Amino acid sequence: MTILVTGSRGRVARTLLGLLHAQGHPLRAGSSDPGALDPPGGIPAVRCVLDDPGTFGPALEGVRSVFLYAGRSTGAATAFAEAAAAAGVRHIVLLSSSAVLEPGGADNLLAGHHAAVEAALSRGPVPATFLRPGDFAGNALRWARSIAATDTVRLPYPEAHTLPLHEDDLAEAAAAVLTAPEGHPAPAYTLSGPQSLTFREQADLIGEGRGRPVRVETVDPAEWKAASGIPAPYADALLDHWRAHDGTPLTPAAPLVDHPRTFSLWAAANAASFA
Ligand SMILES: NC(=O)c1ccc[n+]([C@@H]2O[C@H](COP(=O)([O-])OP(=O)(O)OC[C@H]3O[C@@H](n4cnc5c(N)ncnc54)[C@H](OP(=O)(O)O)[C@@H]3O)[C@@H](O)[C@H]2O)c1
Repeated sequence: MTILVTGSRGRVARTLLGLLHAQGHPLRAGSSDPGALDPPGGIPAVRCVLDDPGTFGPALEGVRSVFLYAGRSTGAATAFAEAAAAAGVRHIVLLSSSAVLEPGGADNLLAGHHAAVEAALSRGPVPATFLRPGDFAGNALRWARSIAATDTVRLPYPEAHTLPLHEDDLAEAAAAVLTAPEGHPAPAYTLSGPQSLTFREQADLIGEGRGRPVRVETVDPAEWKAASGIPAPYADALLDHWRAHDGTPLTPAAPLVDHPRTFSLWAAANAASFA
């Protein structure tokens, strides 16, 4: 029986498709734009978007397990669960967020849609596992243009800590939960990278990776917000998130993979983006 991987243009889903394909699982790649996909081994692609219930039936036909991206529109998550049950799906693995665990999670803009999809799937009828990653290592790619052009990154909270999670570790964890659900009985797993690092330390490691140091300039949060191009409510939520961890080291989550990848490894592999 087939595994449906939604959000297939995303980095996590693409890596997951490659891992599952290498293990020989029958797969279907779901995306809002299946024509843009080039999945490994000619995996069939279908249109599947969480906020468009019309796409659910064909995408779910003959499917046993689903890797689900939480879309921004959460209203159709219940309809998705019902369509999955009708199609005979036995397990849904949701890419959620550790932000749902923060105080006021459901009201937090970074967490709200994840919390709503979790709540919808919790009501059944298909058993679901929630993967709750914290900050992705790949978020540092937002600095790439500035570093490549000026050797400098301008940050409102350079001493804020994150636990940067290599997206390949997230994909590996998802593959393990999808293919061996009996070995992963918890309803939810928090995922993080192995080291608490400040943004300044991450910039230093990017400098090491590309072979040229990166300067960090502290900017006023209001100035950062105006220059970010991020819609104001999301920019405010990010600033709140970073302020809450300013100067405070974080404790890594118990890993779901054997050898969690370090940020240093990520920075070396992505050096060309910052050159
Ligand atoms: N970034 C973090 O630190 C973080 C932390 C915790 C949780 N999360 C959650 O993890 C999920 C993935 O986040 P993300 O930041 O990696 O991904 P993203 O850039 O938000 O992409 C997610 C999805 O957007 C779609 N998409 C639309 N246009 C695209 C394009 N031009 N190229 C690639 N994908 C495109 C893809 O799905 P289709 O193929 O269906 O179009 C893709 O899988 C989100 O639900 C996010 O909230 C992120």
